[in-house]
Amino acid sequence: MIGNRPQFVKAAAVSTKLRERATEVLVHTGQHYDRELSEIFFEELRLPPPDHELTAGSGSHAEMTGAIMTALEPLVAEVRPDALLVYGDTNSTLAGALVAAKAEVPLAHVEAGMRSFNRSMPEEINRVVADALSGLSLCPTEVAVRNLANEGLGEAAVLVGDVMADVAMIFGPIADQRSDALERLEVEPRSYFVATAHRAGNVDDPGRLAQLIDLLAAAGKRAPVIFAVHPRTRARLESAGSLDGLARRGIRAVDPLGYLDITKLVRNSRAVLTDSGGLQKEAFLASVPCLTMRAETEWVETVETGWNRLVALDAEAALAALAELPEPGERTSPAAELYGGGKAGERVAAALADWVD
Ligand code: UD1
Repeated sequence: MIGNRPQFVKAAAVSTKLRERATEVLVHTGQHYDRELSEIFFEELRLPPPDHELTAGSGSHAEMTGAIMTALEPLVAEVRPDALLVYGDTNSTLAGALVAAKAEVPLAHVEAGMRSFNRSMPEEINRVVADALSGLSLCPTEVAVRNLANEGLGEAAVLVGDVMADVAMIFGPIADQRSDALERLEVEPRSYFVATAHRAGNVDDPGRLAQLIDLLAAAGKRAPVIFAVHPRTRARLESAGSLDGLARRGIRAVDPLGYLDITKLVRNSRAVLTDSGGLQKEAFLASVPCLTMRAETEWVETVETGWNRLVALDAEAALAALAELPEPGERTSPAAELYGGGKAGERVAAALADWVD
């Protein structure tokens, strides 16, 4: 079951491998519905089209979760799957987990055990609930396995690696060849930063959003910032009246990018500034330094190896980090191995097949 942008990427690593062993019925909850957040990922990552599309749409947390549950419950009753597989930490994950648990369908969770230990993030609530209900917890890292053990959930945990790393390894070189994002945006390799921001905690409050823009503008004095603007963030910037002023502060706002374009841009950038979990790892795997605009991260390995710095919304800390982090391309750690070496999708499929048997 998938519903939004990061889940399309994750499923791209799992779906093909799963279909070699079992029948997969792919359900798209409809949480993300714009072409640039949804369809383009199916095309570029060669994800099979969904067998069922629900129409969750946008709304409050309760509206979205409730809409998905209401549409999913009868579908689960009809299909009676041997297991329901959910990914990550979004409202689609939460809705899938609750429906499976109540229908007594075994629940498996990809990207289980990740914790920020910050319950003001909706994603943290979604993770904790999905893991509590999951019978098979497919963990991306050893830290995730330990987190589950600490919560008394260790028995369900299996270390498989990070499925997003599989996709980055396969599609990185393809993006280098196929994407013309650098030409289109008229930037030279290593001459610009890439930025994204969409966390509710960063963009919903106008004061915090202004701080975030100040941070990007501070970086923008060093090199142009290509800012791929998520719809949530665009809406907030528009209502604050600050979208039009970005360009003169060194920030080039562009629409959300497809997987190949963002990957190409990240791989050729000087550094990434983001609050996304996926981009932190994609930068790491491409040996590009990252500034994470949050106070904590679930992907602690990227910080421990010196490639990622948690700067929250502190522009001074961001400038210091830009001066101190390694140059892009200087690999000093076995990055891919930390996240499963590109074999996570295969391990998810194998673990799921074993478990269902
Ligand atoms: C969601 C996830 C987040 C994930 C992110 C990836 C939750 C709680 N959050 O956040 O964990 O990292 O997706 O992008 O599930 N919108 C569009 N077009 C779309 C989809 C959404 O314009 O196709 C608009 C909505 O109207 C809404 C805003 O974007 O105003 C936010 O969308 P929503 O899915 O609620 O959350 P995200 O911020 O994308």
